[in-house]
Amino acid sequence: MTAITFSARQSADASKGKTQCAIVPVFGKHLSDAALDFDKVGDGLANAVMALGDFEGKPGQSSMLPAIGNAKRVLLLGFGPLDKITLATVREVTDALYRRLNKCGATDAVLHLGDLAGSKLDLEEALEQFARLLTAAAYRYTETVSKPRKALALKKLAVNPGKALPAGKAQAALERGAHIGGGVNLARNLANLPGNICTPTYLAQQARSLCRGHKNLTARILDEKKMQELGMGSLLSVSAGSDQPAKLIIMEYKGGKAKDQPYVLVGKGITFDTGGISLKPGAKMDEMKFDMGGAASVFGTLQAVRDLQLPLNVVGIVAAAENMPSGGATKPGDVVTSMSGKTIEILNTDAEGRLVLCDALTYAERYKPAAVVDIATLTGACVVALGSHASGLYANKDELADQLLEAGQQTFDRAWRMPLWDDYQKQLSSNFADMANIGGPGGGSITAACFLARFADKYDWAHLDIAGSAWDSAPKGATGRPVALLTRYLQQRAG
Ligand code: BES
Ligand code: MN
Ligand code: ZN
Repeated sequence: MTAITFSARQSADASKGKTQCAIVPVFGKHLSDAALDFDKVGDGLANAVMALGDFEGKPGQSSMLPAIGNAKRVLLLGFGPLDKITLATVREVTDALYRRLNKCGATDAVLHLGDLAGSKLDLEEALEQFARLLTAAAYRYTETVSKPRKALALKKLAVNPGKALPAGKAQAALERGAHIGGGVNLARNLANLPGNICTPTYLAQQARSLCRGHKNLTARILDEKKMQELGMGSLLSVSAGSDQPAKLIIMEYKGGKAKDQPYVLVGKGITFDTGGISLKPGAKMDEMKFDMGGAASVFGTLQAVRDLQLPLNVVGIVAAAENMPSGGATKPGDVVTSMSGKTIEILNTDAEGRLVLCDALTYAERYKPAAVVDIATLTGACVVALGSHASGLYANKDELADQLLEAGQQTFDRAWRMPLWDDYQKQLSSNFADMANIGGPGGGSITAACFLARFADKYDWAHLDIAGSAWDSAPKGATGRPVALLTRYLQQRAG
């Protein structure tokens, strides 16, 4: 994947720098100092544009001027009033800037931000998010199309932070953002791949390539035989109907001290969910290729953590399987024994995510984790409850829940906490096993989380139901959520 290279460079007079596109802010009716630099050498053209009145310097508005000073193009970019700029403005402006740059052929650009010294914005945070969002905006899917959408021409973007921030700090923030954006894009790309390419075996190969050439990141793959030995009867019941063997993929990142307890991320990696014998209806079934979105976010987050070189230990566990109907498939009413020893009556083979996750959660115990977060496209009920804007968050510890909510808030990759009350647990009673794998008709996202909670009582645990947030249906495509949330959570833990 080609990505934009970010850098930071101080320059006093904006019009002196040689560039294909100088980007200069306009704060409502006020031209920035950088815009005025160009106005001076450009016959007052910037002021003339303002005098016309159709460009109002609102967030995301822009006006392109040709050839002034040493710049081939000058883009007047609206930010709205300087004292009203927030991170929400940064998101809006970045989105508009991407669309404008995508329409022009500039391969390099310089963004002049010195005037932001006068805003209330935390510029390091703003630059990190800017680089992440621009990197993600430039993503395109090329894998299985003969003539993919044209790539963004822009290859290099320099930021002139002026007096707002030392160049070193600006550069570091931009690089962090580019790494996180790279993680988001990896998650999207894996999730966008079709089920006939992205199988459990393919994901296992991806884990190996993520680790290749990195001393502090290693991958281990457990095959079905090994999982059998470990007693993972629940996970294996999901792949029973498939010709594709299940894999438990374990990635260990060691950026902390050897004795530091790791943060463990567990991803649901159903590479295609037909529902199994409890077959899903046909409409939109293709979208069940996205049912490994949780796994994809584990890959994306680990790549970001690796590239950020965060000083902590992180383990990624991906429970990868394909859920298919066949003569060998698990049937409604079958009872299986999980690695924990607890037995499960499988009343609906379409509630398979919890069946693979419960064994992965038991496996996670061996790490004596600082915390475990699982991420799963778990329930259609979560989409009904929260739509696509918020991921559903469940936790057995308030502090962990608050940290994740905060990370989501900061990155605008938001989650909303849902209850894990005991009252809901009753729905999982079974006459023939320790529990059933489905509850009643109400509170489907909650009862799924309650099921998982039974396997996560040995450590601090949170569960993110990303059924609504992991992909968009129109236009169809993976979002890379919640890589930004998870990476921010881990950045915060690294201090
Ligand atoms: N992968 C689905 C959840 C899903 C459905 C996500 C639609 C996004 C959109 C999951 O495996 C599933 O099928 N869940 C069932 C559970 C039910 C059988 C208790 C569901 O949500 O219908
Ligand atoms: Mn299912
Ligand atoms: Zn599923």
